[in-house]
Amino acid sequence: MTILPTSARDIRSSVSRSPPLSVSASPSTTFHSLRSGSGSPLAVRNSYFPQQSISEKQLKPFATEDIKILLLENINESARVILENQGYQVEFHRSALPEEELIEKIKGVHVIGIRSKTKLTANVLKHAKNLIAVGCFCIGTSQVDLPYAASVGATVFNSPFSNSRSVAELVIAEIILLARQLTDRSAEMHAGTWNKVSSRCWEVRGKTLGIIGYGHIGAQLSVLAEALGMDVLYYDLVPIMALGKAKQVPSLDALLVKADFLTLHVPELPETTNLIGAKQLALMKSGSYLINASRGSVVDCQALVAAMRSGHIAGAALDVFPFEPAANGATFNATLSPLIEDLKTLKNLILTPHIGGSTEEAQKAIGEEVAESLVRFINAGSTVGAVNMPEVALRGLRVEEEGIIRVIFVHRNRPGVLRQVNEILADHNVDKQMSDSRGEVAYLMADISNVKEAEIKSLYESLEMLSSKIMTRILY
Ligand SMILES: NC(=O)c1ccc[n+]([C@@H]2O[C@H](COP(=O)([O-])OP(=O)(O)OC[C@H]3O[C@@H](n4cnc5c(N)ncnc54)[C@H](O)[C@@H]3O)[C@@H](O)[C@H]2O)c1
Repeated sequence: MTILPTSARDIRSSVSRSPPLSVSASPSTTFHSLRSGSGSPLAVRNSYFPQQSISEKQLKPFATEDIKILLLENINESARVILENQGYQVEFHRSALPEEELIEKIKGVHVIGIRSKTKLTANVLKHAKNLIAVGCFCIGTSQVDLPYAASVGATVFNSPFSNSRSVAELVIAEIILLARQLTDRSAEMHAGTWNKVSSRCWEVRGKTLGIIGYGHIGAQLSVLAEALGMDVLYYDLVPIMALGKAKQVPSLDALLVKADFLTLHVPELPETTNLIGAKQLALMKSGSYLINASRGSVVDCQALVAAMRSGHIAGAALDVFPFEPAANGATFNATLSPLIEDLKTLKNLILTPHIGGSTEEAQKAIGEEVAESLVRFINAGSTVGAVNMPEVALRGLRVEEEGIIRVIFVHRNRPGVLRQVNEILADHNVDKQMSDSRGEVAYLMADISNVKEAEIKSLYESLEMLSSKIMTRILY
């Protein structure tokens, strides 16, 4: 059971329950877990923490003022609810901010939540003196300068898999739409033409679905397709346990020659660029269909146009493109790429604007996943799910464990740092410690016991003096 505070008084009374050090006992306002704080007394308390059981002690940043969170780009309400229930101060904006305003706002916040439009460049991030985390409430993180963020100790989270089901459902819909030429019939009707045909229109039952990439989306799709009576084959780089009666095939070519419907669910990588080109299309069955809702670079669109013009490929659905407009509007035309006009001339070709994961459910799930990652990070230091920091987590502390503090030390990955840190911690009992590095940045987390209140400040200051330091946080 979790206790949801309804007022500042509830929050404060729960604060005084378990931690050995109360907010008012903080040595000073400059001694805190964030890089540089700005003021008001702490009123933050964990109240919603799904991963923790009630008998676990809830950690919080030591002597920090309120955690200030800036949410931009109309992030789903599910995130706001989780963050506000923690007692954090949440400022919410429906749109992205112009860079100048963003720089002003980011100066005072500890956490910023964005979607794809806000560009967190080094130029913006260098003004963010208090920032400890960035929540990308979306899949991609290319809008953030990840190495720079890591170099100033800002941990970045995203939500790569919350929309898997939405993509899988879109693909199921497209399989049937293509098999029945439904988008063509609908367009004809809109233009006033009654065209009742059954030639080359099929049921999907008994047909073979070939899935390239049997990850989160591919596996969901496999289950849904079998429920429609389809046979499922899949190809993946790694051996993956099949769901239902699906079967893994040993090579891409083995899949190409057997699939009636071929669908791609691989990441965008140098090795997946033009994974399906003229050669692969030629290997596909005559009259088969291609679906791409992964990334635009994975299919050679020029080759697809040729294969569809010749009739070898009977239909295709493209949700992603090598050329995608930055904003909604009448922009999907030759100015973006001359190939677009070729695509528009093809029959039984479904074109959608990268909406595979765009559902209300997915937005809600993304809001919850990223907000929960942020709460775990702010309150307990866990970087699980981070995209620019090593993933480090320690098991929770039990309520009865007193006099234990959690030290988090983000530092430059240099020889000798761990020895220096351990010299500082040496007078205490290090109950558990974990450290990992990612490129030039390393993240150390240690739970140390028998720490007296008066000693915390000197521990903190000793760590802050190390030349390798990026950020020190102390939670208790
Ligand atoms: N259209 C959309 O709106 C939308 C939404 C979400 C995800 N996506 C895209 O869908 C794709 C798949 O997402 P996911 O969540 O299932 O990813 P995932 O990481 O769970 O699965 C990807 C799978 O592809 C396999 N793989 C990688 N390279 C391969 C190769 N060369 N050949 C065969 N298999 C290979 C991996 O082993 C893995 O099993 C990604 O490109 C993602 O960006 C699109």
